[in-house]
Amino acid sequence: GRVAAVVPAAGSGVRLGAGVPKAFVEVSGRTMLERAVAGLLASGAVDDVVAVVPGDRVAEAEELLAPLRSGDHLVVVTTGGAQRTDSVRNGLAVLTASLARSGTSVHDVVLVHDAARCLTPAAPILRVVEAVRSGEGAVVPVLPVIDTVKQVDAGGYVVGTPDRAALRAVQTPQGFAPDVLLAAYDAAGDVATDDAGLVERLGRRVATVAGDVLSFKITTASDHARALEEVRALEE
Ligand code: C5P
Repeated sequence: GRVAAVVPAAGSGVRLGAGVPKAFVEVSGRTMLERAVAGLLASGAVDDVVAVVPGDRVAEAEELLAPLRSGDHLVVVTTGGAQRTDSVRNGLAVLTASLARSGTSVHDVVLVHDAARCLTPAAPILRVVEAVRSGEGAVVPVLPVIDTVKQVDAGGYVVGTPDRAALRAVQTPQGFAPDVLLAAYDAAGDVATDDAGLVERLGRRVATVAGDVLSFKITTASDHARALEEVRALEE
């Protein structure tokens, strides 16, 4: 089977403050969207990509991603929604439509990968795909948590300190057996901060594999500066 990736890239990027939607901000001459999609395809593990972008950016995204298209790789662009969950849902709808047309389930793994994690190396992508192929329904790449994390109440008072050794910070791409992810999105009424969260609500098991420090999410100007540094170091 083939591996498909949905790439939500329809966020506004208010926190980055670049004046354009975040995924269309360049990191050393290439937009985050191009870098994220190129990185997935370059891993060798991903066959097809659905990029989900703001409604007024479809033509621009098509143009940016056209060079990444090839006989082997389908690269499709669609429009996102108000929340990340809406954007992923739209991307999945495009995938299911193409599955219905082909009449068979061509994908045995579906990844969901934030465009904002545009420096993600091949290794964590391969680990996620491998784990789904070995039978896991849902897989997330994780890193140990460095800070102690507190749970607080509405007034800001600490109500608990979870054991740090049992906590993980979660990245993308998150990987799923297609039926598991589609069922999770079918059942989802609410928004979730990550896709695996919707799978957890169905009471299904979510596995973890090692993430990568380079899979950090670019959210603020200082993240963007760090990304420039990392690209400079990688290109040296
Ligand atoms: O805002 P945040 O950084 O958490 O967004 C994570 C990813 O989800 C980004 O790549 C962003 O473009 C995407 N997103 C989206 N649609 C939204 C909000 C965020 O595709 N409505």
